[in-house]
Amino acid sequence: MSEPITLRPIGPPPRPQPPAVTLTIDGRHVTVPAGSTILAACQASGIAIPTLCFLETLKPVNVCRLCVVEVEGARVLAPSCSRAVEAGMVVKTRSPRVVLARRVVLELLASSVDLSTAPGLAELLSEYECRPERFGAAAATVAQPVKIDNDLYVRDYSKCVLCYKCVEACGPDHQNTFAIAVAGRGFGAGIATEFDAPLPDSACVYCGNCIAVCPTGALMASREFDLRRSGEWEPSRQTTTDTICPYCGVGCTLTLHVQDGEIVKATSPLDNSITAGNLCIKGRFGWSFVSPPARSTGAE
Ligand code: SF4
Ligand code: SF4
Ligand code: FES
Repeated sequence: MSEPITLRPIGPPPRPQPPAVTLTIDGRHVTVPAGSTILAACQASGIAIPTLCFLETLKPVNVCRLCVVEVEGARVLAPSCSRAVEAGMVVKTRSPRVVLARRVVLELLASSVDLSTAPGLAELLSEYECRPERFGAAAATVAQPVKIDNDLYVRDYSKCVLCYKCVEACGPDHQNTFAIAVAGRGFGAGIATEFDAPLPDSACVYCGNCIAVCPTGALMASREFDLRRSGEWEPSRQTTTDTICPYCGVGCTLTLHVQDGEIVKATSPLDNSITAGNLCIKGRFGWSFVSPPARSTGAE
């Protein structure tokens, strides 16, 4: 008699699931996979935590401290974006100490940085009852001239909160170009190219992946910068359309932002498995030919 045939599923064997960890967040028991961050556990339970330097496509660098939470028994507040959960951990996300810490972080930023184009920060300043003006009119700021040294994007470090996202995106997390780094120390620290060279003289390859992760608008594509400066940038009049970049075989997903019939920006979805929000110079900037200046018909 012949042996019965056993059918095996095609593909790699299923990965073993990490063990589950149960902790308490704001009095509720929460169970998440071991290795999750406190932030991920909060998000899974519908608890909102403000973040600034965190992005799901980048490794946490823990520099903004906006996401801090109180962990029972710990001496200092913990950055939820990078602190892993532990069994039996007791976490408070809105204790008076947490609220005060977030308020001071926001006030220090708002007193020294231009946050006018940072999405969501005005709402946070109001939610945490911030009074950045209490530092006085003479408070030090990072105000400086806008750097416009190329046709594709603009750097306005008056709006930089030193979140390191652009450095991570340009460096080890995405692009591996390493054209920018944090230079200087203390209040004088800032993002710079090598020897603070103009962008065209630096290692920058103009992928614009730094623009895509910048949370404040310090880095901005030139078309958006120009439209904002002339008062014509109007997100409420913009629609988005996902398409595939036609330039090469990688086939990156492009999200085209269109205002009044003109493509004004190109991005890629963060959750796209191919791009993780990244593009190259062609996908990010190579669409202006779609809406060229009106051509002469020769009739006039
Ligand atoms: S330029 Fe933008 S992304 Fe880079 S550190 Fe400053 S705020 Fe963060
Ligand atoms: S964005 Fe660049 S890498 Fe991606 S499909 Fe277009 S040309 Fe190719
Ligand atoms: S978001 Fe966690 S330290 Fe910045």
